[in-house]
Amino acid sequence: MIEVENLTKHYGPRKAINNLTFQVAQGEVVGFLGPNGAGKSTTMNILSCILPASSGTARIRGYDIFEHSLEIRKIIGYLPENPPLYPDMSVRDYLMFAAKIRRMTGKQTGTAVERVIENCSLKDVGHRIIGRLSKGYQQRVGLAQALVHDPDILILDEPTIGLDPIQIIEIRKLIQELAASHTIILSSHILPEIAQICQRVIIINEGEIAAVDSLEGLTASLRKSDRLSLTIRNDGNKVEEKLNSLKQVLSVLPGEKNQFLLECELNSNLQDEIARLALENQWGLVEIKPLSLTLEDVFLKLTIEEKDVKA
Ligand SMILES: Nc1ncnc2c1ncn2[C@@H]1O[C@H](COP(=O)(O)OP(=O)(O)O)[C@@H](O)[C@H]1O
Ligand SMILES: [Mg+2]
Repeated sequence: MIEVENLTKHYGPRKAINNLTFQVAQGEVVGFLGPNGAGKSTTMNILSCILPASSGTARIRGYDIFEHSLEIRKIIGYLPENPPLYPDMSVRDYLMFAAKIRRMTGKQTGTAVERVIENCSLKDVGHRIIGRLSKGYQQRVGLAQALVHDPDILILDEPTIGLDPIQIIEIRKLIQELAASHTIILSSHILPEIAQICQRVIIINEGEIAAVDSLEGLTASLRKSDRLSLTIRNDGNKVEEKLNSLKQVLSVLPGEKNQFLLECELNSNLQDEIARLALENQWGLVEIKPLSLTLEDVFLKLTIEEKDVKA
C-alpha cells in the first residue's frame, strides 16, 4: 500500500531524514514515534507530496510520489501539524471550500460536507467562525478537511498536540473510529497515544529508523528479564533477604509502601515460590503482578542505544 525506499531529505546542509525505508499495508494503523526534530513532519510532508525529497522514492498504492502527485492527493487525506484553516471562515463554508478545491461538483460538495460534519461531530458548530472555536474543535475541522474527499489513507501529524486532556480523549476516539475503515499513519511524540491507537510502530530518531515492529514485538525483543511487583501487608521480616535467596531472582528493589520490584530470570515464573515464602513468613500477601516493559522503556532504550552507536 505505502512503500518508502531510502527516502532522504536535506534542508541545506542539514540532513532531516536519512535513508528511511518502511512499508505500510492496507488497513494498517501505524504509529510514527519520535522526539521533536526526529524527522516525522518532514517524512509526512514528503508522503503527502507537499515537499520533494532529496533522494529515494515512495509509492502509495503503486503511484510514485514524484510522478503521480495528483493521483496521490486524491487518495490521501493529510492533517498537517498546523492544520491549514482559514480563521475568518465559518466551519461549513471552509469545508465547502475544501471540497471544491478537491474538484467536487455542487451536489457532491454538499453531501461530502454534511458527511464529514457528522463524522467529526461538528454539527453544533457548522455556522461558527473557525478562529473562535476551541483548539479541540479546530483540530476536528482539520480532520474534516482531510476526510472531505473520502480518502482511504490518512496521514495525521501529531493530531493531539496542544489539546487539553478531554479534547485529546475525543480526538483519539475519533481516530480510533476512522481506523476501522482507513489506512493510517499517525505521528506522535507521546508514547501512550501510539500504544492506544496503533498496531505497529516505526520509531524514528535523528532522521533514522531505530525500530519497526508491533508493540508486543518491540517490548518482547528488548526484554532480557521478567519483572514482578510484590505487595505485602507486613514489612520488616527480612523480606528483601528472603526474596534474594530465590535462585532466579536477579535483584530486589524496595518500592513504595511494602512494595518490592523484582527482576527475575526470563520465564522463571516465580509467583508460586514467592507466594510460598509470603505464607511461611506471614508477610500478608496482597498482590504479585508481572510487569511488562512499557513503550517508554523501549523508546528510551532504542533512542539511547542509537546514540551510543554513533558516539
Ligand atoms: N524548513 C526547514 N528548514 C530547515 N530545517 C528544517 C526545516 N523543517 C525541519 N527542519 C529540521 O529538520 C529536522 C526534522 O524536523 P521535523 O521533520 O519537523 O521533525 P519532527 O516532526 O519529528 O519534530 C529538524 O532538525 C528540524 O529542525
Ligand atoms: Mg513535527
